[in-house]
Amino acid sequence: AGDTLALTPPMGWMTWNKFQGDISEQLIMEIADAMVETGLRDAGYEYIIIDDLWQGKRDEDGNIQPDPEKFPSGIKKLADYVHAKGLKLGIYSDAAEWTCAGAIGSLGYEQQDADTFAEWGIDYLKYDYCHAPKDVETAKKRYSKISDALDATDRSIVLGICEWGPRKPWLWGREVGGNLWRTTWDIRDTWDAGSYSAGCNGIVQTLDRHTDIADHAGPGGWNDPDMLIVGLYGKGKPSNACGASGCTDREYRSQMSLWCLLAAPLTISCDVRDMTPETRYILTNDEAIAIDQDPLGEPARRVHKDGPIEIWARPLADGSWAVGLLNKHDEEAKDITFDYAMVDLEGTAEVRDVWAHMDMGEFTDSYTDKVEPHETKLIIVKP
Ligand code: GLA
Repeated sequence: AGDTLALTPPMGWMTWNKFQGDISEQLIMEIADAMVETGLRDAGYEYIIIDDLWQGKRDEDGNIQPDPEKFPSGIKKLADYVHAKGLKLGIYSDAAEWTCAGAIGSLGYEQQDADTFAEWGIDYLKYDYCHAPKDVETAKKRYSKISDALDATDRSIVLGICEWGPRKPWLWGREVGGNLWRTTWDIRDTWDAGSYSAGCNGIVQTLDRHTDIADHAGPGGWNDPDMLIVGLYGKGKPSNACGASGCTDREYRSQMSLWCLLAAPLTISCDVRDMTPETRYILTNDEAIAIDQDPLGEPARRVHKDGPIEIWARPLADGSWAVGLLNKHDEEAKDITFDYAMVDLEGTAEVRDVWAHMDMGEFTDSYTDKVEPHETKLIIVKP
């Protein structure tokens, strides 16, 4: 929705992976406070998004109400609180009668709900697709309907399409007014779940789904590989499904590197009131975030693959390249060589290591570095 929204990938925090239905206005206010105190807001994380299970019933006029026990003061009050902190508020609904977790959805109430959300001061809507017909045409229709309804309000509201990928939303998400579209089933808190499936996939499986969809994303409409699991350490709720039991800091750092390369919406899901120093360091790396938010808005492509070695690269607005050297091997460190020819670069370039925050010097034709198991070395190559 809107022409000037999400010109760079939206950044924020979402309730689901850590808290599931265990949410309240108290929690959201504490999260807002923490976003400010920890520097996350100033690093660019802007939207606090209330996911599923915030809903109560509809009143006698059909107006959707929040669960009175979780949100006794109402969502408008909460939005005022969040806005006063310099942050924005997001909410969740579904293109059917029921949401994924069984709360009431928006089908048949699209304009009424959009009006209610606008009146509350909502800035972002995540719109799910559980209990809806499987075909693409219906999906396009239902997403257009909510998008038009949002456009008919007096607020600019980001629309997040959440149909998980089966209907290839990257092909039509923009045309129906989406600003981002989930590309995969829900990510779990694990590096490698073995294979891609609806119930279980990790960082590696999610990344694999992004080898040939870069063309479809850019300013205003983004491929969304789901939330950052950084900092969950196996302590989330739904993110622990299928036995997922958390990642190492190196793996979390890899996710951050890869998501920034993919120009992904950066949606934190850990409890930001209680982060380890490493979690905070990962989430607030300004050089990584600058890659994610680069105004050219061009997602990385996989430019090299050799067994467990992969290289992903994206061009940046200033003519340099952001490059990820990924070692998926479980035990062995590998020397990985980025050949400039992989992206049609030649000659001499300056290389900067984004996690070391260090200039590595000038290199001609290629750059080689040692990459630990499950590490992604994130570099900027500037001709
Ligand atoms: C789906 C979505 C999740 C979350 C839940 C809520 O599974 O993909 O991100 O919103 O529904 O029920």
